[in-house]
Amino acid sequence: MPEPLDIQFAPLSAASAGTLVLLAGQELALGPTARGLDERMKGGLSKAARAADFTGKAKTSIEILAPVGVDAQRVLVLGTGRSGKELDRLLLGGYALAQVSARKCEAASLVAEPADLGEASGEVFAADLALGALLRSYAFKKYRTPRKSEDGAEEESRDGLRRLTIQCAKPDAAAKAFAARKAVAEGVFLARDLVNEPANILGPVEFAERMRDLSRAGVEVEVLDGDQLSALKMGALLGVAQGSARPPRVVVMQWHGAKSKRAKTLCFVGKGVCFDTGGISMKPAAGMEDMKGDMGGAACVAGLILALAGRKAAVNAVGLIGLVENMPSGTAQRPGDIVTSMSGQTIEVLNTDAEGRLVLADVLWYAQERFKPRFIVDLATLTGAIIVALGKEYAGLFCNDDRLAGELSSAGEATGEKVWRMPLGKAYDKLIDSKNADMKNIGGRHGGAITAAQFIQRFIKDTPWAHLDVAGTAMDSTKNEISSGWASGWGVRLLDRLVADNYEKTEK
Ligand code: BES
Ligand code: MN
Ligand code: ZN
Repeated sequence: MPEPLDIQFAPLSAASAGTLVLLAGQELALGPTARGLDERMKGGLSKAARAADFTGKAKTSIEILAPVGVDAQRVLVLGTGRSGKELDRLLLGGYALAQVSARKCEAASLVAEPADLGEASGEVFAADLALGALLRSYAFKKYRTPRKSEDGAEEESRDGLRRLTIQCAKPDAAAKAFAARKAVAEGVFLARDLVNEPANILGPVEFAERMRDLSRAGVEVEVLDGDQLSALKMGALLGVAQGSARPPRVVVMQWHGAKSKRAKTLCFVGKGVCFDTGGISMKPAAGMEDMKGDMGGAACVAGLILALAGRKAAVNAVGLIGLVENMPSGTAQRPGDIVTSMSGQTIEVLNTDAEGRLVLADVLWYAQERFKPRFIVDLATLTGAIIVALGKEYAGLFCNDDRLAGELSSAGEATGEKVWRMPLGKAYDKLIDSKNADMKNIGGRHGGAITAAQFIQRFIKDTPWAHLDVAGTAMDSTKNEISSGWASGWGVRLLDRLVADNYEKTEK
């Protein structure tokens, strides 16, 4: 495994021999340190900028090789644009990492001193840049044998940066601000690792076993096996699992961080279908490999709980994940089968590929019965229909509580993990009524993401609840400044922010 990127903070005056990264705002506005360096370079920076028509726009850069007057072998100047928002700082940090990595530098120093700090303090600016760089540095190379170069020596498995030094006015304060962000990044990386892992390696049992590691961060981890799930009468979840040779698991991860004894638990539930063939209603072959990511909701919940524990969040939070594999076999459930969920409600399974909602039905019911939570948020790669509706830019948000919906939308704007609220209502709910049972698990061609959400809502008591359909965002996601794509770890930063902004300060 490649070493993770090592990020350190140092004073602005620190010497830097390798690659030096400077920032320039709109109209080539430089901070004091960059201006001083330009003077030492005898105006070489401004001259190069003019020659390259570089004006400091976001996502543009120039490179000055072997500059005179400074120790660095290379100076990279990155445009910051007008920016000023938190997300801009994250993206800038990611862009910096990408620029430096592309040049195969081992170590680099970044002068985190823009001409205009915007709304941020110097240490927050530096820490946000660091988080962006760290998030971008992630790569899943576990199964790639390092190539040998011609002389037989092993080439580095990381063809990018190993150490990034961020120079700023208050390095100690920046390092402190970065510590909590780093804990969140570790949660994101856990989620990405889980989603990237192929299904032959990560089945329900292996996923559950991996969750036991979270106890090292202070999380209380319980694993429920098939017998325990039967005793709990989780007939809907077990129906999905019955076609697989690999048994199901439900994992309960509790983080106790609240100061007050009376604090209500925040509850997060994830769909963990380790592989979704569709079952007897089998999916077509093309693209089926992507269904190793059908546990993206569960991965996010695991990453979130690790993040909250890692930064010692002042809340009580519990993550519950339903882990199964949806396979066709002689023991698989058939279209038309009727199962009884833990809630007692019966479900006619008309399409075995609509399995995520069956898993969530029982885990959500169990979560409410056991924890009586303050709210419950579920995440699931639930429907292709949500991708048709929203593409890959927004996750679908379905919510029975306007305040919770508002909090999630704000957290989405701040973190860039955006959610778009979708409707719920009686007319949609009617579409899943069944003649033969209390409900059926599909609602017909129209509004597929909505009828899926309606199905889930039938298992919500009077708890504030939000359902995030992350089929378009948690897996096969687009590459951007802070994610190299496919497994984005989507939702960890969103939900960490939901908690930090609304549930940690005082008990509401
Ligand atoms: N896991 C899929 C949804 C999905 C599709 C996730 C594409 C990510 C990318 C889910 O279990 C599923 O198969 N949903 C069906 C529901 C249908 C049978 C009502 C779908 O969306 O086609
Ligand atoms: Mn499916
Ligand atoms: Zn699925």
